[in-house]
Amino acid sequence: MKVPNVMIQTENSDSQLVPEPWQVQVRTWRGWIEHGLEFYSELGSESPEILTEAIKYSLLAPGKRIRPLLTLAACEMCGGAAETALPAACAIEMIHAYSLVHDDLPGMDNDDVRRGRPTCHIQYNHATAILVGDSLQALAFQVLSEAANPTTARAAIPGRQVGPMTVDVALRCVAELSRAAGPMGMAGGQQDDLLAERLPRCEASLERIHRRKTGALLATSLKMGGIVAGATTGELEKLWELGQDIGLAFQITDDLLDVTGTTQQVGKQTQKDSQNGKLTYPSLFGVDESHRKAQNLIRRAYESLDRYGNRAMILKGLARFILERQQ
Ligand code: IPE
Ligand code: IPE
Ligand code: MG
Ligand code: MG
Ligand code: MG
Repeated sequence: MKVPNVMIQTENSDSQLVPEPWQVQVRTWRGWIEHGLEFYSELGSESPEILTEAIKYSLLAPGKRIRPLLTLAACEMCGGAAETALPAACAIEMIHAYSLVHDDLPGMDNDDVRRGRPTCHIQYNHATAILVGDSLQALAFQVLSEAANPTTARAAIPGRQVGPMTVDVALRCVAELSRAAGPMGMAGGQQDDLLAERLPRCEASLERIHRRKTGALLATSLKMGGIVAGATTGELEKLWELGQDIGLAFQITDDLLDVTGTTQQVGKQTQKDSQNGKLTYPSLFGVDESHRKAQNLIRRAYESLDRYGNRAMILKGLARFILERQQ
């Protein structure tokens, strides 16, 4: 299995010969996530060959895997074994991959490059891209619910047994993920993003869009990690708030990269948001002020992580990456 070479780097990593400890752990976890995604996308002969191929094309393409990494990191920070959260981590990446396939369709953002490759509807066709999204969404919930069944929860990491989760944990993850992906979360945010020209061009509308279209899935990534680890209700609330801040910062950086990045660097067309008349942070506040807002959100995330001491090292590393990323 080939792990895509998208490095999670930090500001000073170019000059470093030895990676920071959090980067070493992230690299291992990325390997687990790639194994898990490959494992769960072996769909057998009942799935049409072309659909399986298109699902793998989109899901296994070299993404940063930030959401599943957040799930594993939150699980470990809250005292759980990270591998137990692998089904939840893979499920959130499936929902994310589906959201990207649909986001790129001509009826939405009409993009032809994703993760450095032709988008799913360009490589295959529109109908197949719609079905890839439908399938990934269903598969996410299949993976999560089957993770509670000892006969279907199988090892997805060589040499390690994953799961089973308890039925209660799997059901709570299903509830969290479906709420975050649906009309009150990602899908609702995407709808408002498309209708943004009809909304007042103000920070409140913008924040509302970004917190749902991107923040909801990032926050749920953390919360599911906490649920798998058996975190208390109070801890889960804190994880959700932290995830919302990180998620908003993530989308501000995405908006910034659309203005300041190149297609080669970010693996998708840039300068698209202004062409599509999108309501974005740089269009409302300019580049510098948008960056300051993202910095403030990550600063607040760091403060909230302080209570975990050394156990927050990986999440702090990932939060810094979210702010400083160039891809
Ligand atoms: C892109 O997400 C879509 C947004 C929500 C901004 P990512 O930047 O995480 O995309 P991949 O998974 O690395 O391709
Ligand atoms: C997409 O936001 C958010 C979701 C896919 C839910 P964008 O439209 O800004 O993402 P990119 O820039 O195409 O990756
Ligand atoms: Mg979009
Ligand atoms: Mg888009
Ligand atoms: Mg974007």
